[in-house]
Amino acid sequence: MRPPLRTALLLVIAAAIGAIAAAQISGVLRQRDAYPRGVMDVMAHHFARLGHNARAGTCSADATAAHLGMLVTMSGEIPQAFPGLMRDAQFAKFADDAHAFDSQVAANPPQDCAGLRQALARIGEHCDQCHRVYR
Ligand code: HEC
Repeated sequence: MRPPLRTALLLVIAAAIGAIAAAQISGVLRQRDAYPRGVMDVMAHHFARLGHNARAGTCSADATAAHLGMLVTMSGEIPQAFPGLMRDAQFAKFADDAHAFDSQVAANPPQDCAGLRQALARIGEHCDQCHRVYR
């Protein structure tokens, strides 16, 4: 093979290897973020459903209990989903506080839409206080 041709071929191969490596790295990064984002998105879904019910005035005890149960489960999953951030004492405290508050509300659920709105405002404060620093 003539030298210029060999150089061109090597460049093409190098570019292909570079592209494959870049795709693999971005895949790894996506996977690493998938679980924490999934936990947050599921939590946001149930939080939003509760908000929708409270605004629509359709706060059935069953629906409220089911969504609150999911919030308890998902906030309890924050330590698993954010192992790196959990080494930060303030993050760990925000996570514990959020989970403890969700559990407290679920154990003694609001009986009407007005009560649910109040509970949601305080649950939302727990989301916000952590997001302000860490999101
Ligand atoms: C202890 C800290 C903490 C608490 C409490 C918390 N979050 Fe998050 N949240 C985060 C962090 C950190 C991110 C950024 C995650 C990322 O981008 O990888 C995030 C991201 C999100 C996202 C974006 C997810 C995505 O797909 O990019 C949503 C939605 C969300 N949180 C909703 C909530 C809701 C709703 C609550 C409360 C019911 C809540 N979070 C409570 C730390 C927290």
